[in-house]
Amino acid sequence: MVSRRALLTTGAASAVLFGLGGTWWVKTGPARSAREPWNAASAGFGDPRLNVLAYAILAPNPHNMQPWRIGLGEGGEFTVYCDLDRLLPETDPPNRQITIGFGCFLELCRQAAAETGLRADITYFPEGEPQPLLDDRPIAYVDLVEDASIPADPLFSTVLDRRTSRLPFDTSRPVDPGTLAELQAGTVDGVEVLATAEAALVDELRTLTTDAWAVEWDTASTRRESIEVMHIGKAEVDAKPYGLSIDDRLTSTIGMLGLMSPEALDDPESSAYRESLKFYDRACASAMAYVWSTTPTNTRRAQLDAGRAWVRTQLAANALGLSFHPLSQALQEFPEMAEHYKRAHELLSNNAGDTVQMLARLGYAPVVGPAPRQALESKLLPG
Ligand SMILES: Cc1cc2nc3c(=O)[nH]c(=O)nc-3n(C[C@H](O)[C@H](O)[C@H](O)COP(=O)(O)O)c2cc1C
Repeated sequence: MVSRRALLTTGAASAVLFGLGGTWWVKTGPARSAREPWNAASAGFGDPRLNVLAYAILAPNPHNMQPWRIGLGEGGEFTVYCDLDRLLPETDPPNRQITIGFGCFLELCRQAAAETGLRADITYFPEGEPQPLLDDRPIAYVDLVEDASIPADPLFSTVLDRRTSRLPFDTSRPVDPGTLAELQAGTVDGVEVLATAEAALVDELRTLTTDAWAVEWDTASTRRESIEVMHIGKAEVDAKPYGLSIDDRLTSTIGMLGLMSPEALDDPESSAYRESLKFYDRACASAMAYVWSTTPTNTRRAQLDAGRAWVRTQLAANALGLSFHPLSQALQEFPEMAEHYKRAHELLSNNAGDTVQMLARLGYAPVVGPAPRQALESKLLPG
């Protein structure tokens, strides 16, 4: 097994690379180590499975919890498990969103493999679908097989530029319906991706997403779940490059001053609490279009497929220059959200009984930097 040695070797190579100053964060300043996996991905790890996994760990996932745990097998295969300490039981009671994140992860495995002439044979839930909650059974078994007939996926060229943006979008710049049609075209079988820039529906969705965010933040249990996984300031984000990271220059200063402490965020009388509400209000009010996805069933498989389709949609959006911000609150299954959940399904599903799996706002904004990631090595189960 070459894994650990290969990783260490690559770490050294990366340090030389950073030393040359050719990387974006040397110029722009965010915490270096928390973003290192974005640079390391293309370096090569001396093992095809690690080469693929180095891209997969960059997948979008709820609250950036990165719940992946990987068991490397004897040959070209690996098994993907969920780290059950990284679930979000308050905002994601049925583990639906966490499962969608695994779908994003598996799609990036597939794309990264195809890039080097490997076919990723993916078996979902080889020991059965975990219901009603995820458990210690595997999420997927992945075998990488050489196959010269496997086409590279054009979306893969955007993988290192994929970003979630929470900035306000430019309200003077509409999103063209033709652009939305391109996004929708990249879905996978079994998942419908829909989008609108039509003013009346965008307006309704702005209201829905704003109101749903207020419910998530004003409900103590869901707010506290987010606060518990928040890391404030560069040093803390470097040490814990997962969860909700608040480490751009301004907020890390506020964090150091103690204005944005976990305690203040949890106090409805504080400015940190009110600013958090306003932050999302501004974001939702500047939505210029929305994209969402639906599935006819809500099985674990459907959730993985929804994740595969979702990361494809986001890659396509970013490739077209669109900023992309998932707004999942109205789709969440905790009791206080029931009214908005119902409204979201009335507005967004074409067929009764469909599950709306994802919803995001779209628009144009300055490009943001990548989110933190834990090193690949920390995700490998002891072999
Ligand atoms: C299932 C799912 C739900 C998400 N919901 C939200 C959300 O409600 N609000 C948000 O700001 N980001 C949401 N995101 C985006 C994640 O927070 C983001 O992927 C993660 O922080 C990593 O950042 P990155 O996508 O820039 O790599 C969601 C992502 C997934 C896969």
